[in-house]
Amino acid sequence: MDKAVVDAVKQSFGRALINKDLMKDFYDRLMSDNPAVGKMFARTDLEKQKEILKMSLSMAILFSQDNVVAKHAMDKVRESHSQANLNIKPEFYTVWLNSLVSVVAVSDPEFSSELEQHWRLAIGQAINHIKSGYLPEPGS
Ligand code: HEM
Repeated sequence: MDKAVVDAVKQSFGRALINKDLMKDFYDRLMSDNPAVGKMFARTDLEKQKEILKMSLSMAILFSQDNVVAKHAMDKVRESHSQANLNIKPEFYTVWLNSLVSVVAVSDPEFSSELEQHWRLAIGQAINHIKSGYLPEPGS
């Protein structure tokens, strides 16, 4: 993916993270946007999960630049989110990405519709990779 696009997303994430509660805002938003998704986090330690997601989001952004460490990180998420493990249905990623974009939009003072498209493109690559691992490989 175009380096300028990924750099713009990295910078936007950096500005949005100045809002110390970005990850809490994200989970609050995700759970209120979709109560079925909220239930999936009923037993989750959200304090820990917020830190995990912050790291993992950086990896998801870097994944779109063919970064080897990010590929490894997203391979792990692909495995853990599959039907056989956490069973995160592919349609949930749309709600998840919409909630993420909504909180970044209000936390990054330089947010724009162009930047929104850049976020969707960059994270979309990681999401496609994760979703493609939902079902077991044929023959396995
Ligand atoms: C780019 C998208 C996503 C990324 C990068 C991501 C990343 C992660 C990571 C790193 C973990 C920690 C466990 C592990 O290593 O796998 C995790 C856990 C989890 N994720 Fe995701 N996730 C994504 C999307 C989603 C979506 C769409 C849902 C459901 C709506 C979801 C639901 C969960 C749940 C329920 C857990 C377990 C929490 C617990 O430990 O109780 N994730 N995710």
